[in-house]
Amino acid sequence: MNIDEIRAQFPILSAKVHGKPLVFLDSAASAQKPDVVIDAMSEMMRTQYANIHRGLHWMSERATEAYEAARSRVAAFLGASTRDEIVFTRNSTEAINLVSYSFGSLLKPGQAVLISEMEHHANLVPWQMLRDRTGVELRVTPITDGGDIDLEAYRQHLSDGKVALVAITHMSNVLGTVTPAEELVAIAHDAGAKILLDGSQAVVHRKVDVQKLGADFYTFTGHKLYGPTGIGVLWARRELLDAMPPFMGGGDMISSVTFEKSVWAPIPAKFEAGTPAIVEAVGLGTAIDWVESVGYEAIGAHEAALTAHALRVLPEVPGLSVIGKPKERGGVVSFIMEDVHPHDIATLLDRNGIAVRAGHHCAEPLMRRLGLTATARASFGVYTTEGEIDLLAETLRKIRQFFI
Ligand code: ALA
Repeated sequence: MNIDEIRAQFPILSAKVHGKPLVFLDSAASAQKPDVVIDAMSEMMRTQYANIHRGLHWMSERATEAYEAARSRVAAFLGASTRDEIVFTRNSTEAINLVSYSFGSLLKPGQAVLISEMEHHANLVPWQMLRDRTGVELRVTPITDGGDIDLEAYRQHLSDGKVALVAITHMSNVLGTVTPAEELVAIAHDAGAKILLDGSQAVVHRKVDVQKLGADFYTFTGHKLYGPTGIGVLWARRELLDAMPPFMGGGDMISSVTFEKSVWAPIPAKFEAGTPAIVEAVGLGTAIDWVESVGYEAIGAHEAALTAHALRVLPEVPGLSVIGKPKERGGVVSFIMEDVHPHDIATLLDRNGIAVRAGHHCAEPLMRRLGLTATARASFGVYTTEGEIDLLAETLRKIRQFFI
C-alpha cells in the first residue's frame, strides 16, 4: 500500500486548519471520503437520478438498478447468502433500533437481552426502550480491567437459558477492543440465544464474513467505511427477517393496501419504508469497491503498525495513560493526561490542526466502569501516517508543559 497514493485520493487531507495542515485522527467518529465516492454520488445526481421502484421511466429504472446493485455489492461484501438479507437503514443506530423494535416485539417477559459493559449508546438505549416497553429483562455482561469481554461471566449470564438475544460490539469505539466474535456467537448459540454484532467499527478494519462468523444479525454504517452519511446496513438471516414484523410503515414496504389492512412486501422491501437514501447507497457501494481495491490485508497491516506505534510513543508523553489493554486492539487509542482535561486536550490539539475526539464517546456506562468521565481518543484510518502520530505525541508534550 502506497500511503502517498492513498492520501492523494482524499481531497480534504490537503486542507489547513487554523493555518496548520489537517491531521485527522478522528476516523472512528467518521472517516473522510475518497474522490471516487464523492464523484460517484455527484455523477449519479448529475446524470442518473430519479426515485426508485416506482417509475416506469428510463431515469427511475437506471436509479433502481444502481440502488439494487449497491445492495448486491453489500451482500457480497458481507458474504450474505442472499441479497434479500441486506436491509438499508440510515446508520447502524437505526439498524439496531429496527431489530430491537421488530425482533424485540417477538420476545416475551421472562426472556432477556444481553449486552456488554462496553457498548456504544446505540447498542444500549434501544434495548432499554425495549425493556421498558415489554418487560423483557436487560442484562449486562462485564468486561475485564484490560477491556476484554469477561468470557466466564458471559457464559454465566447465558447459563439459565433465558437470554433470547445477545447484542454486542465487534469492536469497541472507545477501547479499540476487537471482541472474539466467533466464540461469542458459539457460546450464545449453545445457550439457545440469537446474536447481533455491532460492526460499526470492526468492518472498517477487517474482512467480515457473516456466514463464517455464524451471527444472526450484523450492523454497520457507511460513513465510517469511507462512504457517505445517511446509509447503514442491517444484515440478518432470511428466516429471521421473514418472521419479523415491519419497523416503519409507508410506501414501498407493502404489496397491497386497503383501508382495512395492508399486506407487507417481501424482504428486504418490508423494512425499507419511504424513499430510501438512493445516492448514499450508491456511494456506499463505491466505498466498498474502493476499500476492497486497497485490500483488507494491506489496511489491517497498516493500521496494526500505526496502533503499535501509537502504543509505543504515546505512553512516553509525561503524565499520559492509555486506557485499556485489550488482547486485540483496532486503530483506536483512548488516553488521559494528568492535570489536563480531555476537552482541553482536544481543543489545544485542534489549534495545532490535529483532530481527535474527547468526551464519553457515546459510552457513558463504560466511562463509569473505567472510573472516568471522559477520555481523549485518537483513531486511525487508512490514510493515517506514523508522522501524524509522532506529531500528536509531540504536541501533547507541549500541552502538558503548558499546564504544569
Ligand atoms: N460512534 C462514533 C464515535 O465513536 C460517533 O465517535
